Amino acid sequence: MGQKKMQKKKGKTHIIVVGNEKGGSGKSTSAMHIVVSLLERGSSVSIIDLDSRQKSLARYIENRQIYADQHNLKLTMPDAHVLMGTEDGTSQEMEQQDEDNFSALLDELKTKSEFILIDCPGSDSNLSRLAHISADTLITPVNDSFVDIDLLAKVNPDSYKVEKLSLYSEMVWEARKARAMKDRGTIDWVVMRNRTSSLNAKNTRRVHDVLTQLQKRVAFRYVAGFGERVIYRELFPKGLTLVDFKNNNHEKMTMSHVAARQEIRRLMEALKLPGWSKVAIAAAE
Ligand SMILES: Nc1ncnc2c1ncn2[C@@H]1O[C@H](COP(=O)(O)OP(=O)(O)O)[C@@H](O)[C@H]1O
Ligand SMILES: [Mg+2]
Repeated sequence: MGQKKMQKKKGKTHIIVVGNEKGGSGKSTSAMHIVVSLLERGSSVSIIDLDSRQKSLARYIENRQIYADQHNLKLTMPDAHVLMGTEDGTSQEMEQQDEDNFSALLDELKTKSEFILIDCPGSDSNLSRLAHISADTLITPVNDSFVDIDLLAKVNPDSYKVEKLSLYSEMVWEARKARAMKDRGTIDWVVMRNRTSSLNAKNTRRVHDVLTQLQKRVAFRYVAGFGERVIYRELFPKGLTLVDFKNNNHEKMTMSHVAARQEIRRLMEALKLPGWSKVAIAAAE
């Protein structure tokens, strides 16, 4: 009974994909905070890092293990994997090989984890498409900028009205169709703001208005995300997240940390992952 760590409970594995065809929008940072939030709740979590060039999420987790070992800390750890795209053969052979590798890994991880989180690279690839098709929840962080919004939709420069869908939204649309064909499943697409700043109130407002319009047209849920905070950049070398602070008093909490923890908790609630609401009630006590 005591061995709850990494023991899969009964039920279907929930697949979370963090994606956006844009580097630097906060995919890996958000991914790590979601992973540790789930682990802290006692869920078993596997991760697949598909960004085999940068490996930010896998390296974040490696740093966590090293820091825990060096400081004799008991930190929750996910089961981590990096999957590389196939590089040899015709494009058809590579596609087939990617599909085989991806399914084999997913099948293996489904037997041991309640959640699988897949962190995608900031560009299109076979593996990234396969991940999107398999997503139960797709999370897309966007920065507070029309450069980021441009990947979702073309916006009229004068009226800021949405004119047409663009690259990434089209890709998700295709993934949704492929998913429906595959197992009649649906993808809950959540778009979250990242790095919002009060120094930029007018732009923040415009981005907010466009995302509000867009969510109906493209069928995603637009939720509040993370503010621009130095702490999100500083935690990487230690492999820590703001979620760890409460449990391990080896870091001092500031007001900004408290606010950041609050926004992570709010995001986790907004994601509506299976089994999460019970915990939110427990945490509020
Ligand atoms: N909310 C935030 N506040 C401040 N810096 C952030 C925030 N989110 C991400 N960053 C920083 O932005 C950069 C890109 O983030 P990252 O998560 O690696 O993006 P991606 O995985 O989409 O390429 C990193 O240097 C990261 O530390
Ligand atoms: Mg990344």
